[in-house]
Amino acid sequence: MHSLRRLTIGVSLPSGRRTLSTSSKVVFSGIQPTGTPHIGNYAGAIREWVKLQHDPDENCRRFFSVVDLHAITNSQYAPQLRQRKRETLAALLATGLDPKKSVLFYQSSVPAHTELMWILSCTASTGYLSRMTQWKSKLGLSPHTSLQDGGVKASLKLGLFSYPVLQAADILVHRATHVPVGDDQRQHLEFARECVTNFNHAYGPHLRPPQTIISSSRRIMSLQQPAKKMSKSDVDPKSCILITDTPEEIRRKVMAALTDSMNFVSFDPDARPGVSNLLGILSIFDSSGRDPAQLAKVLENRSLMDLKQLVTDAAISGLQGIRQRYIGFLSADEGKYIDWVEAEGARRARENAEETMVLVRQATGL
Ligand code: TYM
Repeated sequence: MHSLRRLTIGVSLPSGRRTLSTSSKVVFSGIQPTGTPHIGNYAGAIREWVKLQHDPDENCRRFFSVVDLHAITNSQYAPQLRQRKRETLAALLATGLDPKKSVLFYQSSVPAHTELMWILSCTASTGYLSRMTQWKSKLGLSPHTSLQDGGVKASLKLGLFSYPVLQAADILVHRATHVPVGDDQRQHLEFARECVTNFNHAYGPHLRPPQTIISSSRRIMSLQQPAKKMSKSDVDPKSCILITDTPEEIRRKVMAALTDSMNFVSFDPDARPGVSNLLGILSIFDSSGRDPAQLAKVLENRSLMDLKQLVTDAAISGLQGIRQRYIGFLSADEGKYIDWVEAEGARRARENAEETMVLVRQATGL
């Protein structure tokens, strides 16, 4: 095994330092610009990112990326993708991410992400990738589908199959120690650690394994099909509460949410997915931090209409101000403010990623 110290001899890092800073805390996470963030993204990820800005560790660095390269695993209409990237960045700013405390950038602005992806691909196992669930769910296939099943190879594109390798590269190129995500990303983070093991086994201990920070809030499900997770790319606008929705839009969507014919409140995600999901949404905004089961106990004598009313009021007040700030950020300085934030974030992200790539290229002989 080579040691990090031995391998860094003679390597000059862009910052002039000769070794990487390996002890400080680095937070990394990402969001796809496939639509305006919804309350699932907010509770599962973005709100945690904002909280991490208050970390008392002065040396902690934070990187949050709008992952446009991941977004093109589904074909995109270019003008719409360009617009959604700016909107996603504006939404992140509107929730409280501060460019003075966090580096905010578009993934495609930092080519080191794709360079490291290729290098990781050379030690990544296709067997492991074939067992992962995301490509199957994106293609509408059962989690038990295998690559050998009829028709799979014809519809599965390489970009979707290797999506987790790019996600691992996003994290590892910034030497992230902590990755705050919703629970649907658990498998991707395990795979990122597997990439570290494979790379380090082949080339020496240069990459460090990240820890996953899973939000305590539950996965938020579609309001119209509560067996499916709430998704930015859902074609039915009534399925999602966007963090930029007006109070009237929130009211209409919650009132139209699919529940069931039993007119009382209880928490049972298998038997009562719609009602349980509404309790999950209420719990996001509960100032006492009660979980959905605790809220169900408190509300056991209330009707479903009462529950919907409570969810509506909680979401309106919990998201208050985000819409106004979002509109303000998008139009600030005739739209140039967003571009400036991104350009500055990309510059800092490129610099940080390059430090890793200098060592990775050296270790691999590139
Ligand atoms: P994306 O864009 O699907 O979601 C962004 C974040 O929101 C969380 N999330 C949810 N949480 C609760 N309920 C939901 N319905 C819900 N939907 C989404 C996700 O867990 C995520 O944390 N693959 C990632 C993007 C990514 C990334 C990365 C994340 C690319 N590279 C590196 C972390 C580190 C994704 O598609 O997120």
